[in-house]
Amino acid sequence: MSDITSIEQDALAAIAAAASLDALDAVRVAELGKKGRVSGLMGTLGAMAPEERKEKGPALNALKVRIEEAVRVRKGALEAVALEAQLVRETVDLTLPAAPSAGEGALHPVMQVFEEIAAIFGDMGFRVAEGPDIEDDWHNFTALNFPEGHPAREMHDTFFLKAGDNALPKVLRTHTSPVQVRTMMSEKPPIRILIPGRVFRNDWDATHTPMFHQVEGLVIEEGIHMGHLKGCLVDFVKAFFEVDNVVARFRPHFFPFTEPSAEMDVQCLRAGGVVEVGKGTDWLEVLGCGMVHPNVLRNCGLDPAVHQGFAFGLGVDRLAMLKYGMPDLRPYFEADPQWTRHYGFSPWLTPSVSGGLS
Ligand code: DAH
Repeated sequence: MSDITSIEQDALAAIAAAASLDALDAVRVAELGKKGRVSGLMGTLGAMAPEERKEKGPALNALKVRIEEAVRVRKGALEAVALEAQLVRETVDLTLPAAPSAGEGALHPVMQVFEEIAAIFGDMGFRVAEGPDIEDDWHNFTALNFPEGHPAREMHDTFFLKAGDNALPKVLRTHTSPVQVRTMMSEKPPIRILIPGRVFRNDWDATHTPMFHQVEGLVIEEGIHMGHLKGCLVDFVKAFFEVDNVVARFRPHFFPFTEPSAEMDVQCLRAGGVVEVGKGTDWLEVLGCGMVHPNVLRNCGLDPAVHQGFAFGLGVDRLAMLKYGMPDLRPYFEADPQWTRHYGFSPWLTPSVSGGLS
């Protein structure tokens, strides 16, 4: 038994003293590795009398578990320190002027598309509203009629932040919709806002990045109905794709915060990775939309018997890919100046509906 006590004291001291992940791993191998001390003791069990084995077996196992746990805890602490040091090391001063050799900058296609969308809705009387990237659970979910435990919350692959005492964890907002809530709570109708912004979901492949961009729209006035929604969004699509003859359809869908909800598709021709709207017989999904759910209006202090509204949300990165023929989303965020020069836009040309968008 004294072996067990002394190995444990020794091991715990060495684990506590390990100053790096490598040093910690060396301790782990020396104790728990195939040729480690604990494994060595385990190897002696076979030759013991059954009585002795009955006593030493569980004791050795418990020792192993305690050492493993101590290694795990120490590893977490060392990783946190390493991450902190990395974050400090990788600080970039974004206020430094670019080197002259970098040449003239270009507007990123996502920013170009933001500008185009803002120009179109600006003409229809929408103004831009913004909100925080770090949201609380209530604004991101509950107020938008996602009940606690509702599966729709899981569809969002949410990034949660560390929770404070007795508080629900904050989230990196999974959509721009919480800004609807913020605006309805701080302003009186009529409301006509466009909400551009970054959103975050735990997803990563050619068409999904953990940070991407949405534009959300919200109209709240007396007597607003689906006809207004349809007219507004069809006009938007015509202006955005710069074609007069758009065929659109609204497919029934589910969003917790709208009722009825729909996804809007436009007819298009798909050829060689490029999509041409206004031609062909394929369908392209453009956005999600619907009439604001009475529960959402109530949660924001509005009376659904008086005020109605419609909302819509669209993914900007995807629309930019489709409009400008970029096949992969990942280079969007790699800051490669060659890519930006190739796909970027002149910073001097401001899109406008009358002067031309692109
Ligand atoms: N928030 C939705 C999402 O991220 C997008 C959306 C759909 C927003 C319909 C809306 C809407 O305002 O009416 O998937």
